[in-house]
Amino acid sequence: MYMGGLIVKKRNGDALTKEEIEFMINGYVKGEIPDYQMAAMMMAIYFMGMNDEETVCLTTAMAHSGDMLDLSAINGIKVDKHSTGGVGDKTSLVLGPMVASLGVPIAKMSGRGLGHTGGTIDKLESIKGFHTSLTTEQFIENVNRVKLAIMGQTADIAPADKKLYALRDVTATVDNMSLIASSIMSKKLAAGADAIVLDVKTGSGAFMKKEKDSRLLAKEMVKIGNSAGRKTVAVISDMDQPLGYAVGNAIEVREAIETLNGRGPADLEELCVTLGTQMLLCAGKAATEAEAEEMLKETIQNGAALKKFAEFVSAQGGDTDCIYHPEKLPQASIVKEVAALETGYIQKIFCEEIGVASLLLGGGRRKKEDEIDLSVGIMLRKKVGNFVNQGDSIATIYGNDPEKIKDAYNRIEDAYFYSQTAVKKKKFIKGIIKE
Ligand code: URA
Repeated sequence: MYMGGLIVKKRNGDALTKEEIEFMINGYVKGEIPDYQMAAMMMAIYFMGMNDEETVCLTTAMAHSGDMLDLSAINGIKVDKHSTGGVGDKTSLVLGPMVASLGVPIAKMSGRGLGHTGGTIDKLESIKGFHTSLTTEQFIENVNRVKLAIMGQTADIAPADKKLYALRDVTATVDNMSLIASSIMSKKLAAGADAIVLDVKTGSGAFMKKEKDSRLLAKEMVKIGNSAGRKTVAVISDMDQPLGYAVGNAIEVREAIETLNGRGPADLEELCVTLGTQMLLCAGKAATEAEAEEMLKETIQNGAALKKFAEFVSAQGGDTDCIYHPEKLPQASIVKEVAALETGYIQKIFCEEIGVASLLLGGGRRKKEDEIDLSVGIMLRKKVGNFVNQGDSIATIYGNDPEKIKDAYNRIEDAYFYSQTAVKKKKFIKGIIKE
């Protein structure tokens, strides 16, 4: 068996065997297969696809490429949550504290930004001192004590995914169903939670643009999780425009804090309650959806979720002062309004372009070794359905470099589409998949 032969096989559209997939994944992790050959394989998979059996084999090989975390020392049913990636997606920062404040242990492994989408760890690092490099013992200890801990993907957990994720990010091979399903589920299986709630995004800012494809991805991941003995549920949510208004890193943390204070955007709140409901049901904390929803809303109203967020930040070395004084989070030096080109209703926002605009400002990575600027970002002022007069602000850019701001401005301007007639609101939660 040799890698060149496997690339030819996949390029020609044939299915790889379990042994071939294991050979490829093990060889890549050991450094025996170079990045350039794996990049060619990823592109071949991107174009030729993988069948269900190949996807399951790939997931299993990636999950077993490193340690399988044993979380049995954590009391209670551990529930994990994962998003397939979107623009302005700060859900974990709000949802984690909400659910943890109700006593459900959350041992979450999160990632960094990928392509035009942001990552929870990058966002949290805009809080001074916050870190996610916990040992497994510290991680377990924090979950038992605080009920919430977020760890970066360590070198020992699904190392195959860690290497592949970074490679796919810079070789235009992210948005493939089998690659996304295996990437997410390998980490989730290796991270040891008892139940997994997936937030599968759909629309112009998601990796899966069409609802039909998002449903297939959701079904594939639910099938992989349940067959591995983990209760898995997927919620399909809209990503045809950014979630909430803030897109960036520190700016998203600020919006998450606002939400924990009960002043959050309606779509973000709805998503947190929907995902949280499934988490509480999986954990056996609520008997019905209505009961779970009420419990979750209460955590915002009574301040328990905000308090839990502060506890969690402090347990991971972060400065809690910025939670009560968000203006102390990193701030960009230049503020620029983007003017509406037309008078009318916002018909559509090409969501991926807003993510790219944030990346161009320095909020994301173009190459895997890039450092990101946590202070930059975009605050949308108008979303789909809103009315705007020509020249009014549709978004505010926060940046540090005039050239980058110019690029971002053009992207945002082009991402907005206008209509002379009122625009109907679309359903935000598209469905829940349990099997
Ligand atoms: N999130 C992941 O963890 N992996 C992907 O491939 C895409 C989104």
